[in-house]
Amino acid sequence: MNHVITIDGPTGSGKSTVSRLLAKRLQSPYLDTGAMYRVVALALKQAGIGLHDKAAISKICNELDIRFVPEGDATGVYLGRDDVTETIREPDIDLLASDVSALEGVRSAMTRIQRKIGSQGPLVAEGRDMGTVVFPEAQYKFYIDASLETRIDRRFQERQQRGESISREKIREDLIKRDHQDMHRSIAPLKPAKDATIIDTTELSLDQVVEKILREIEKD
Ligand code: DC
Repeated sequence: MNHVITIDGPTGSGKSTVSRLLAKRLQSPYLDTGAMYRVVALALKQAGIGLHDKAAISKICNELDIRFVPEGDATGVYLGRDDVTETIREPDIDLLASDVSALEGVRSAMTRIQRKIGSQGPLVAEGRDMGTVVFPEAQYKFYIDASLETRIDRRFQERQQRGESISREKIREDLIKRDHQDMHRSIAPLKPAKDATIIDTTELSLDQVVEKILREIEKD
């Protein structure tokens, strides 16, 4: 699967925007694996299933009808027939998705689906474990990071643009908690792959980051 480009990194690093722009420039499909964990979290919430009910969680994951539908420059996310694009971005799903993503059964089911998609052709795959676990043999791996304050700012602006009233302090608290969980879980924790190129986006525009990645790819 060396036609897969992996982009990993923490919340607010800019990796989603960078991945989307990069996929567009390369005319390649884009896979937002965070959205997959968010859909699982939403499905469990809607079904009233707790995190300890392993059998019910397995069933939900194995029957998960998740679809990504290109809608202009954006991508719609569907759970069955429901458009859940907005719902999966709600603040309670942020943390629940992180909780859910630490579960072995959920990770193995998502990894299976992600590899299947990766086997079908070129892909820009974005997440936390793309370069380390899901596509370890990918030829191009990037780890996108930024300073904590920059990441908090980006999150804050995103939330404000969506019309949510949330304090910067709450954003800080949630972001630190979620990153800690994502980096310290026992399975597939967030970390750069040994062979990943690390890009700090604190002082760069996201367009500059895309150019940097394209230069790296075009070098070969
Ligand atoms: O990228 P995001 O914020 O939409 O991801 C939501 C959660 O999903 C995140 O807190 C950790 C988890 N996740 C993961 O564990 N592995 C991935 N490849 C992508 C996301």
